[in-house]
Amino acid sequence: MCGIVGYVGDSGSTLDVLLGGLSNLEYRGYDSAGVAVGGETLRVEKRAGELETLEAAVGSADRRRFEGPVGLGHTRWSTHGPPTDENAHPHTDEDGRVAVVHNGIVENYRDLRDELEAEGVAFTSETDTEVVPHLIARELRGEADPEAAVRAATERLEGSYALAVVIEGIDALFAARQDSPLVLGVGEGESFVASDVPAFLDHTRDVVYLDDGEFVRLDPGGWTVTDAEGRQVEKPVHTVEWEAEETGKSGYDHYTLKEIHEQPRSLRQCLSGRLDELGGRVTVEELDGIDAPASVQFVACGTSYHAALYGAQLLRDRGTPATAHYAHEYATAPAPIADGDLVIGVTQSGETADTLSALREAAGRGAETLVLTNVVGSTAARECDHAVYIRAGPEIGVAATKTFTSQLVGLNLLAARLAGGDRQRDLVDALRRVPDDVQAVLDESGAASVVEAFADSEAFFFLGRGLGYPVALEGALKFKEITYEHAEGFAAGELKHGPLALVTGETPVFAVVTGDGEAARKTIGNVKEVEARDAPVVVVTDGAAEAGRYADHVLEIPETDPRLAPLLANVQLQLVAYHRAARLDRSIDKPRHLAKSVTVE
Ligand code: F6R
Repeated sequence: MCGIVGYVGDSGSTLDVLLGGLSNLEYRGYDSAGVAVGGETLRVEKRAGELETLEAAVGSADRRRFEGPVGLGHTRWSTHGPPTDENAHPHTDEDGRVAVVHNGIVENYRDLRDELEAEGVAFTSETDTEVVPHLIARELRGEADPEAAVRAATERLEGSYALAVVIEGIDALFAARQDSPLVLGVGEGESFVASDVPAFLDHTRDVVYLDDGEFVRLDPGGWTVTDAEGRQVEKPVHTVEWEAEETGKSGYDHYTLKEIHEQPRSLRQCLSGRLDELGGRVTVEELDGIDAPASVQFVACGTSYHAALYGAQLLRDRGTPATAHYAHEYATAPAPIADGDLVIGVTQSGETADTLSALREAAGRGAETLVLTNVVGSTAARECDHAVYIRAGPEIGVAATKTFTSQLVGLNLLAARLAGGDRQRDLVDALRRVPDDVQAVLDESGAASVVEAFADSEAFFFLGRGLGYPVALEGALKFKEITYEHAEGFAAGELKHGPLALVTGETPVFAVVTGDGEAARKTIGNVKEVEARDAPVVVVTDGAAEAGRYADHVLEIPETDPRLAPLLANVQLQLVAYHRAARLDRSIDKPRHLAKSVTVE
């Protein structure tokens, strides 16, 4: 989704800082980009399309035009109006003295636009954002000082916003946040605002997390945060642990491939200090003091929803009633909540609007809330009663890979800690081995050659049962996201109730078959059903049930605890999706139409 970066400082390289910041935010997904550099004069350049188009436009202009101590940059993901140069941010007032970038949605923009047009203001875009610079300009004409003008304009806005504003002739940047992410970066003689930390990680790791209703002023000499009434707020400065190099490609062709290969490390980080190997128990410091819940409701979207389905089953297997809900459904049709219930949001970004909305709905009805997230200081982490971190490090590829496997590990820790039970030692042993098991899958995977066999296929099915079912759904989602080809995931037993009609000799079927229990045997039965319809079959298996005998291709995983086998199977399916997408030369890191952090409902 849209990305903001803002800069004030004496480095003499405002434009480069902005373009570098935007490039580090590209992973959020966008369709146009722009910059404004201020000081004595204000210069704006914006373009539909990739950042390269903007860079070329700025490069072909006289770059000295873009010198100044203050600047803003934006990557836009269209909501109001198509991706065009006019609709790209920054937006300016009629005199080009005020430049504004915005994430979120101004819900009352129609009324504000009517009001301004009635006063004779001419609009140049179809966006909701453009009302903001015009409102600020009107305040400035009324002789408000710049800070008061920006405050007065934001007070008129309904909806969600992270805003950053520069004004010609003022060496300061103003920013405000309401229901849309915005963080402050604090450096030596320079400061930053951004929608996400990677935007300024090349310059500083010192971060201030802003809260809703807060207003920031950045000057070359420092920064101040004030609340809605203008009172100064003391904000702690946190040092983020991510290293700038973690956000590079490290020689891989794509961030997505790099992140798939990073999983042994990200899983080790997730487990660090959380396995008591001697006692055979897991410890999760963040959960100290939490009682075992009577029942658990998970809320999440997309990949995180698949993790939630897996987590709910882990808890049920330990005797705790648990359900998983799409957050966007839950937000308007919540499940009943009783005393002792816990609502868990699963969200790697901690900023997904649908998930925040569901968590707020649950909290409003008295539920205790917990979030499982990757981002310290994210909105969900700050709003929930408890936060548990998956510690996957920054994930730049829009399609979630390493954060999903860290969610699965995090959910095993949560389930063991919240629901107890006597099977902890086996789990601890298997969790300790899981980074090496993932490494073995990465080292030996035959996924690249398997996808070669299906050059002409156009639809792909993924089957799983039990804990393998969410992984089948996730395998299909990853495949469709990055290959743009049709893929569906099914509960293996459901196929014969309808979807089997789609199965032909041209539709490869990937089946997750792990262990040798009843679930594996029944899934093999389902594999035979598709085989009888001539479908090419790939089984992802640990070999225990000899499922390979019924398959055209086998993708092997090491034997492990039944709760972790689906995680290893998922790594094979990530590689299947990746290699297929690479073969088709898709935009793997930034799939079309998709955004990393979906901050609108
Ligand atoms: C798919 C993907 C999305 C996200 C979903 C929720 O690869 O990344 O489906 O899982 O948008 O995002 P978070 O986890 O940030 O709440």
